[in-house]
Amino acid sequence: MKKGNPYGTHRVIEPKGVLPQPATKVDNNMEIYDNEILIDVQTLNIDSASFTQICDQAQGNVEKIKEIMLGIVKDRGKHQNPVTGSGGMLIGTVEKIGSALEGKIDLKVGDKIATLVSLSLTPLIIDDIINVRKNIDQVDIKGKAILFESGIYAKLPSDIPENLALSVLDVAGAPAQTVKLVKEGNTVLVLGGAGKSGILCLYEAKKLAGNAGKVICIDYSETTIEKVRKLGVADYYIAADATNAIEVYEKVMNVTNGKLCDLVISCVSRSNCEMSAILSTKDEGTVYFFSMATSFTKAALGAEGVGKDINMVIGNGYTKGHSDTALQIMRESKELSDYYTKLYA
Ligand SMILES: NC(=O)c1ccc[n+]([C@@H]2O[C@H](COP(=O)([O-])OP(=O)(O)OC[C@H]3O[C@@H](n4cnc5c(N)ncnc54)[C@H](OP(=O)(O)O)[C@@H]3O)[C@@H](O)[C@H]2O)c1
Repeated sequence: MKKGNPYGTHRVIEPKGVLPQPATKVDNNMEIYDNEILIDVQTLNIDSASFTQICDQAQGNVEKIKEIMLGIVKDRGKHQNPVTGSGGMLIGTVEKIGSALEGKIDLKVGDKIATLVSLSLTPLIIDDIINVRKNIDQVDIKGKAILFESGIYAKLPSDIPENLALSVLDVAGAPAQTVKLVKEGNTVLVLGGAGKSGILCLYEAKKLAGNAGKVICIDYSETTIEKVRKLGVADYYIAADATNAIEVYEKVMNVTNGKLCDLVISCVSRSNCEMSAILSTKDEGTVYFFSMATSFTKAALGAEGVGKDINMVIGNGYTKGHSDTALQIMRESKELSDYYTKLYA
C-alpha cells in the first residue's frame, strides 16, 4: 500500500499544496493508502445549507437533485457544494483498513460508523442514488468513501436508530459548543431554533442557563414554532424572519426588557442572517455562528458598522466529546427523542 499523509494531502489534485477541504478537486480512486479507511456508504446526510441550495436550484425536482449531486462528485471527487462550500456527513460500513492503522484504531472491518468530518473533504464515489429523502436532507446511495487518518468518526450506537443517529451527529458540534458557551443566568437566543441543530442548542441552553436564565427560540414559521413549543426547550417562542434584522432586534428587545442577549446562536440554514444575530447580542456578548450560510465578511464588517464590541465564534463543527453530547440528548429526553424519531428516523 502507498504511504499517505495523515491529513489526506496526497489526495489533493488541485490546487496543489492545499488541504482536502479547500481543494477544488480530490482523487477519489478507491484504492486505499496505508493510513486510510475504505467505507461502503449507505446514506449521505447533506449539510442543510447545501441541500437547501441544491433543492432551490433543482426547483424541488428529485431527478434534478440527483443530477446536481452526481455532477458535484464528478467535478470535485467529493460532495462539496460549490455555492455553499459545505458538505455533510455519511454512514456506512468499514470495508478495508490501511495497514498502517491496524492495531491503532478501535475499528474493524464490518463496523457501522458515521464519519464526523465533512463530506466537503471526503473522497467519494456515487455509483447510484437509490433514494432522496428531501424533507430530511438524507440521500441513500450505492458508493464508497475514504476516511483519512485524521478523520474523526463515531461507531453507531446500538440503542439509537441509525437515521436518527446520523441526523443528530450531523449537527453534533452545535449542542456541544452551546455547553461550552452558556453560563448560569444567561439570556440565550437561538435563531433557527426550531430546526435540527437549533432544538439541541435550546435544550442544552435551557439546562445550563437555569431558572435565572432566559432562553429564546426564534424561527420563521408559526407552525414549526408551535410544534417546538410543546418540547418545552425555551422560555419564549417567537416567529420572525432572521433575514430581517430590525424585526428580530425589536422582538428580542421586547422579551429581554431592552437588555438583549449574552449569547446568540445562529442555526438558520439561509444566508443574510448575520445582522439579526449581531443586533440581538448585548455589548461584550457572544455570537456563535453555527450556520454554514454565514458570511465572515458580512459578520465582521456588519458588527463594526453598528459599533458592536462582541465576540464572534466561527461554528467549528468539532469539539471534544461532541458526538456523545448529541447522542446523550436523545437518551436523556424522551420528548426530543420522540420528536426527532418522527422527523428523521
Ligand atoms: N458548523 C458546522 O459544523 C455545521 C454542521 C452541520 C450543519 N451546519 C449548518 O447549520 C445550519 C442549520 O442546520 P440544521 O440542520 O439545523 O438546519 P435546519 O434543520 O434546516 O434548521 C434551520 C432552521 O432555520 C429556519 N429558517 C429558515 N429560514 C429562516 C429565516 N429567514 N428566519 C428564521 N428561521 C429560518 C428553518 O425553518 P424552515 O424549516 O421553516 O425553513 C429551520 O427551522 C445550516 O446552515 C447548516 O449548514 C453547520
